[in-house]
Amino acid sequence: MTAAVVTAAVEAAVEAAPVDDPRSEAAPLLEVDEISLRFGGVTAIDAVSFKVRAGELYAIIGPNGAGKTSIFNSISQVYRPQSGDILWRGDSIMGVRPDRVAQLGVARTFQNIELFPQMTVLDNLLTGRHIRMSSSFLAGALWVGRAKREELEHRRKVEDIIDFLEIEGWRKHPVALLPYGIQKRVELGRALAMVPELLLLDEPVAGMNLEETEDMARFILDIRRELGITLLMVEHDMGLVMDIADRVMVLDFGRKISEGTPSQVQRDPNVIAAYLGSTDLDVQAQE
Ligand SMILES: Nc1ncnc2c1ncn2[C@@H]1O[C@H](COP(=O)(O)OP(=O)(O)O)[C@@H](O)[C@H]1O
Ligand SMILES: [Mg+2]
Repeated sequence: MTAAVVTAAVEAAVEAAPVDDPRSEAAPLLEVDEISLRFGGVTAIDAVSFKVRAGELYAIIGPNGAGKTSIFNSISQVYRPQSGDILWRGDSIMGVRPDRVAQLGVARTFQNIELFPQMTVLDNLLTGRHIRMSSSFLAGALWVGRAKREELEHRRKVEDIIDFLEIEGWRKHPVALLPYGIQKRVELGRALAMVPELLLLDEPVAGMNLEETEDMARFILDIRRELGITLLMVEHDMGLVMDIADRVMVLDFGRKISEGTPSQVQRDPNVIAAYLGSTDLDVQAQE
């Protein structure tokens, strides 16, 4: 994908985004500090550090097997790095249960869609509300009136997300029957239903056609601009990232080889050397 792919709407949104943002001086929302993760003889993550500031769209790129998904799994506390620390709003979340991490405000989508295929769009989104439900609600609605009010509120929230993602026409359809691009959007909707502060997107446009990619790019930018959610995005492909990210980290064999604005990273000799001749990152063609 090249820059030409980006629609006028996307370009307008990029232009509207703050350039010299004073928030860049603020304490980071997420801080990954020298984490290393090994699987037997394989070093999936090798002493990687980076910070994500509130309000930014931070991207991680690198070829297959570079360790991108492993970083997400480490942040979500699904994997446990052997060393290093991960801080959320200044406090370590190492060893915190994954559902608790979600409750703290970190939601995610998966490289391979993980929805309930037989359930409707509406019900899949409602599962995203579970982490926001009170214990009395889950305990079988002992307080009938209160539980009823709470259920209505959850449904209202989910309907708002359905409108936002423009999937009204699919709301009663089982997810399994939907086109791939819409399924990816539903998964995004479920993550939004958790009302995250930070949203982790693992290859949000993988396998999508051009039109689906443009739609997804527009939603990603709207999520930041309209919902004020900070984004950490993993991509295998350079194009989308170069078009919409504020900052980019490049991973290669588990190591961070570069970090900066998209144009800085594209010009970095480390990146050019690592990807020379590669079809993954068409570095020179971007200039
Ligand atoms: N659960 C796991 N068990 C063993 N090896 C794993 C596991 N998860 C990831 N790896 C290995 O870690 C490396 C990085 O994988 P991954 O994080 O999925 O890369 P990426 O998302 O950048 O394609 C690969 O060599 C992969 O085989
Ligand atoms: Mg991956």
